[in-house]
Amino acid sequence: MQKVKIAVLVSGGGTNLQTIIDSVASGDINGEIAVVISDRENAFALERAREHGIKAVYIERKHCAERLMQELQDKGIELVVLAGYLTILDREIVRAYEGRIINIHPSLIPAFCGKGFYGEKVHKAAVEYGVKVSGATVHFVDEGTDSGPIIFQEPVPVFAEDTAETLAARVLEAEHRIFPEAVRLFCDGRLRIEGRKVKVLLEEV
Ligand code: GRF
Repeated sequence: MQKVKIAVLVSGGGTNLQTIIDSVASGDINGEIAVVISDRENAFALERAREHGIKAVYIERKHCAERLMQELQDKGIELVVLAGYLTILDREIVRAYEGRIINIHPSLIPAFCGKGFYGEKVHKAAVEYGVKVSGATVHFVDEGTDSGPIIFQEPVPVFAEDTAETLAARVLEAEHRIFPEAVRLFCDGRLRIEGRKVKVLLEEV
């Protein structure tokens, strides 16, 4: 089966990017990361890409829409992976890549998500609310914020002594499990979107 051309968009340290790089290298993911793009020039995730011989591109926010679309089209990208990318994608890009953009969010959507909920802010809100369970969600991106059809979720316990940092670390471990798995299934053509639902198709024997 032809390898799926993937673009990974990042803003931070890139630990989720690393799990996807590793899963591609091991052959688990039937894909090829053609480019890693960041809206932060000094994002360590760009360094991770360079260390693995992957094209690393910085696109500043104000030039984002047109330059990003150009980069995706030039590379023939078939799957856009948002791995901690903090710029809201331009509507034109979301429409052009409908059903082919996957995002990771560090809570159990629809809790603690949407405008203003990103990074540590998500975990701070969960700890302050006093929830007993939080977790990670991988979903397709639509024109809303964190509102597209959900692919996978993994719950994690929240303990009384948790801080935003300790919860973030526990949720990140869950992210590192469900994110590459969602990318793997997409690249195997096994994710089917049916309205708000995502079905995982059985492996062809
Ligand atoms: C993760 O917590 C993810 O949920 C959020 O941004 C963070 C990215 O971390 N969207 P990393 O850059 O992949 O380490």
